[in-house]
Amino acid sequence: MGDDDMLLHQFQCQSLLVPCSPPPDADAVAGSNSHPNYCFFLGVCVSLLTKSPAMLLLAAAAASCAMMIFIKGRRRRRRRSNNQHQQVLINLPPGRGRGSSSWWSWSVSAVVETLSFLAANSSGRGFYHFVEARHRRYGPPGFRTALFGHTHVFVSSADAARLLLASEPRGFSKRYVRTVADLLGEHSLLCASHDAHRALRRAIAPLFNARATASLAASFDALTRRLIARDWRSSGSGAVVVLDAALGITFDAICDMLIATLQPDAKRQLQSDVMAVTQAMLAVPLRLPGTRFYAGLQARRRIMDEEESAAARRLPAELLLLLLTDEEDDQLILDNILTLIIAGQVTTATAITWMVKYLADNRGFQETLRSVQLELAPAAKHQDDAPLTLQHLNSMELAYMAVKESLRMASIVSWFPRVALEDCQVAGFHIKKGWIVNVDARSLHYDPTVYDNPTTFDPSRFKHGEDTKPYSFLVFGAGGRTCLGMNLAKIMMLIFLHRLVTTFRWEMADENPSLEKWAMFPRLKNGCPIHITPI
Ligand code: HEM
Repeated sequence: MGDDDMLLHQFQCQSLLVPCSPPPDADAVAGSNSHPNYCFFLGVCVSLLTKSPAMLLLAAAAASCAMMIFIKGRRRRRRRSNNQHQQVLINLPPGRGRGSSSWWSWSVSAVVETLSFLAANSSGRGFYHFVEARHRRYGPPGFRTALFGHTHVFVSSADAARLLLASEPRGFSKRYVRTVADLLGEHSLLCASHDAHRALRRAIAPLFNARATASLAASFDALTRRLIARDWRSSGSGAVVVLDAALGITFDAICDMLIATLQPDAKRQLQSDVMAVTQAMLAVPLRLPGTRFYAGLQARRRIMDEEESAAARRLPAELLLLLLTDEEDDQLILDNILTLIIAGQVTTATAITWMVKYLADNRGFQETLRSVQLELAPAAKHQDDAPLTLQHLNSMELAYMAVKESLRMASIVSWFPRVALEDCQVAGFHIKKGWIVNVDARSLHYDPTVYDNPTTFDPSRFKHGEDTKPYSFLVFGAGGRTCLGMNLAKIMMLIFLHRLVTTFRWEMADENPSLEKWAMFPRLKNGCPIHITPI
């Protein structure tokens, strides 16, 4: 066969074979173009067959390669369409994470997602930025991601919150990251398993009874008066950092409530150790000297020693009862004293700080509140030593609305993690056993279908004790794990607000909105410095 004949033959082979290839539908395009290529190679093989055995071998090798590519492409196409089909059938949450993808692509996702979570954490936008970005991408009611080797689902619907947080949620268990359990102790209420938790909560709850609440209110009021009416007033007009001051007085009040009066030096050491433990909670769990996690563990050890001697002098009767009935309870009490200090101090101080910022940004409301508060408790303004009573606090309706609105906007605990103990459905999504489902409280607090203009600070939305849709105001959680200290927290916020608004006008001294890196709860990096002017 001459060259011309060969070209013609080649052409005929191609034109004869082209109609055999399938129409270019979307699937074929997605799969590969291996089918026509294979035909082309076949044509070349046939034409070269007559030339030489070497060419024949080469052509045969090329043909088998093309065949393999074709077969692999088909397999991949079929697998992908099966996965898509399965995903539609069982309705997995959108996003990345184990479920529909192969082990390899899950691992890549896990690394990529974990790195972007860490990047958000170490940026001025805070860790919630990671969640917010995916909310925007996937829309309500939630999405799936892979963090630190686990599949996480974030859901932001009130029904999902009810299902996951109700008193006895079947099929779910509270989940805390390992580092939190290492730092707070295995007996901590925050990490306790379902049954241990119920008994422990029953034992601890009396610490928050009416008598204890009134006593903490009196002690916090005294501390606030000393701070605002004495320290800040004597500093004249200038800038003060709210977060530092709030951390100091909330720590002192909670510490006085739980353990014997400590010497000032011991108290400051304890406070700085508690801070080290808090900062280690989100750290990479490396037990190496010089790391944040290691420093947290060391601080925990010092706290345990300090608490052991201090707590023995003044333990609440309920905890003492536990101590007498079980050998392990010694550690149990120490773990839970640390838990209560950490659960109460940083959260409340952070909430107070955001509240002061929101009122600095809303000067009109600040003025209105000031005149109302001065009417309600005039004695408190003129006689620095006149303590606020619970009766006073009960009459502060407008201030209470401001407290609630600040808590909504600040959403100190952004989400609540629960682990699925079996395959189940949440918010219409299929959830697999072992996945961590997070009730995304912050997103619910900013849901425009629940709160009008959610980004606007508007205390009047809580007028006349009006409550929002059930399970849509989750600042203290809900169900069997609801915050034990929520009344204490609200009282401390009210007292602080009343004392500040009846003593000073204030505005922000630094408007930088950056958030603190690696903070357990979102808070301003600058600690909220304010310029204060005596009224
Ligand atoms: C504004 C301040 C506070 C906020 C925003 C807050 C928020 C929360 C939230 C959302 C939970 C539930 C977490 C979950 O379900 O996963 C919780 C639990 C808890 N909080 Fe608070 N809290 C505050 C103040 C306090 C105070 C002052 C104390 C005590 C001194 C306290 C003690 C606790 C305890 C012991 C738990 C665990 C309850 C349990 O698991 O049964 N909190 N807190």
